[in-house]
Amino acid sequence: MADKDGLKVAKDYHVDVPFARQGNFHVKGANDLDWGMKKHLSNIFDPKTGNTVMFAFDHGYFMGSVSGLERLDLIIPKLLDSVDVLMGTRGALRNCVPPACKKAIALRTTSGSSMLNDDLSHEVVAVNVEDAIRMNADCMAVQTFIGADGQLSSIDNLSKTINDGMRYSIPTLGVIAVGKQMERTDRFFKLATRIVAEMGANIIKTYYCENFEEVVAACPVPIVVAGGKKLPEDEALTLAYKSISEGARGLDMGRNIFQSQHPVEMANAIRKIVHEKFTDKEAYEFYRDSIHE
Ligand code: R5P
Repeated sequence: MADKDGLKVAKDYHVDVPFARQGNFHVKGANDLDWGMKKHLSNIFDPKTGNTVMFAFDHGYFMGSVSGLERLDLIIPKLLDSVDVLMGTRGALRNCVPPACKKAIALRTTSGSSMLNDDLSHEVVAVNVEDAIRMNADCMAVQTFIGADGQLSSIDNLSKTINDGMRYSIPTLGVIAVGKQMERTDRFFKLATRIVAEMGANIIKTYYCENFEEVVAACPVPIVVAGGKKLPEDEALTLAYKSISEGARGLDMGRNIFQSQHPVEMANAIRKIVHEKFTDKEAYEFYRDSIHE
């Protein structure tokens, strides 16, 4: 292992230089993957725009029933036309999503803690790859806790999932967790996203931060941005706009959609930013017009 002392500060991100190994495929880092991987990634990332709107409703796996997700069977069908990917647990998907739905599936596969624990960083792989295959999952989502107590076991979970995913051509989505004690700086996100990408994750879900373009440039696979706590709609749309204009290939939002007073209109406004190059102001106008119709 390289000596940690005397490391030079990384600064040559070349944010204006396109990824050198893009090739002919629309998903970063996937040009040399096989047909099955590319098929799943194309279900997630629209081949026309290269981007995706993911709807995250997996919160129940450690938070139980949260505001806005009390009735998954009612909220999810309303949003199906507005999003590209459904990110949930197998329990929520099997019980509350019609199997005829054509949306891509991001299957949450790790769990192990609950809101009642102080330390949420110890998880296990709870859903095996056979069940992911049975559910026709387009990716398996693994929580990773870089810098937390559970770092080693979460990298073990991630590595095992990637090994299984490579065997059956199912991409792995590495979710960067940020604990209460952890910094939300670009330094942390550069470290965490790069570690998870180097372990072999095909997609990274992380948070927006300062110098986000550098986080994106240093990460050889696509980044999708998590929404985080509920913001006023205009601020959430600004977060979405900044993320996309600084290189994210999608949003994976939960609370900023399902806790909005107008979840469908909010998801449609996010979609305008992600797929139609709307600015945040244009998207907010679209949102306001939609709710007054
Ligand atoms: C991640 O660990 C969570 O389970 C959610 O998928 C994630 O936080 C995205 O949802 P939100 O936009 O509400 O933060």
